[in-house]
Amino acid sequence: MSLRVGLFDSGLGGLTVLRQVHEHYPHTPCLYLGDTARVPYGERSAEEIRMIAAEVVHWLRLQGIGVLVMACNTSNALALDVAVAEAGVPVVGLIDSVAPTLTSNRIGVLATPATAASGAYRRAIHACRPKAEVVEVACPAFVPLIEAGDLEHPDLQQAATTYLQPLLERGCEEIVLGCTHYPLLEPLLARLLPTDVVLVDPARATVARLGPLLASLGDLPEAEQLQQAAPAALSQSRICVTGCAEGFARAAACWLGSEPLVEQVRLCPTLRGDRQRQQA
Ligand code: DGL
Repeated sequence: MSLRVGLFDSGLGGLTVLRQVHEHYPHTPCLYLGDTARVPYGERSAEEIRMIAAEVVHWLRLQGIGVLVMACNTSNALALDVAVAEAGVPVVGLIDSVAPTLTSNRIGVLATPATAASGAYRRAIHACRPKAEVVEVACPAFVPLIEAGDLEHPDLQQAATTYLQPLLERGCEEIVLGCTHYPLLEPLLARLLPTDVVLVDPARATVARLGPLLASLGDLPEAEQLQQAAPAALSQSRICVTGCAEGFARAAACWLGSEPLVEQVRLCPTLRGDRQRQQA
């Protein structure tokens, strides 16, 4: 039995990361938690996001995971230290994974309001490319519209046009999809951008870091090291939500290729979470 990879997000978005973990490491079992009772995270305060991260990571730890992938940029931006303290296992983040892979000097970041306000992407990119111009744009309309399920909704097109405007004006050459919900908008965004602008999904760099980490922990299944394909990665994974399981299973089918079995779970507050709550 190999190590179980834990992933979490506020809802459907982290499935774009889970999908890539399945594609690259099909023998690796995963545990995914979508905190759908509290989606969206991106308009919450830093204190709330940190309290929620403590609860979610504590729950994942209790279920037994060997590695934690932060499949949520908002939690990664505001609560990486909370996750590291709570997880008790190695933690892989999206932001630090993608920053060293960027290659241009004008970089746009589309993100939730909380991620954009935190400046986490700007700091991580400047640590690797000090001279790069970084333009962060908060996109509050995206997550609620994506969770509602109609990716061709005219409001999404309208919002995308508005959010891309400052990035186009600054001549951004790479645009980071700084929220795990946004890769689902890639076709729509690509239609609105010149062909030479590169859309960057941080999940790719994150998942690339996961293989060496699993191998260093001595737990990458042999078949995975040989890059052999395996069937039904989904059947090895457990998918849980804090809200309605049926609705999530239906919506997840378009993202994962088939309808997964989804369990509804209850999280228990942690001491750390209680402390964050009292301070808030
Ligand atoms: N998908 C998450 C992220 O990457 C959270 C989005 C939200 O709930 O606002 O930021």
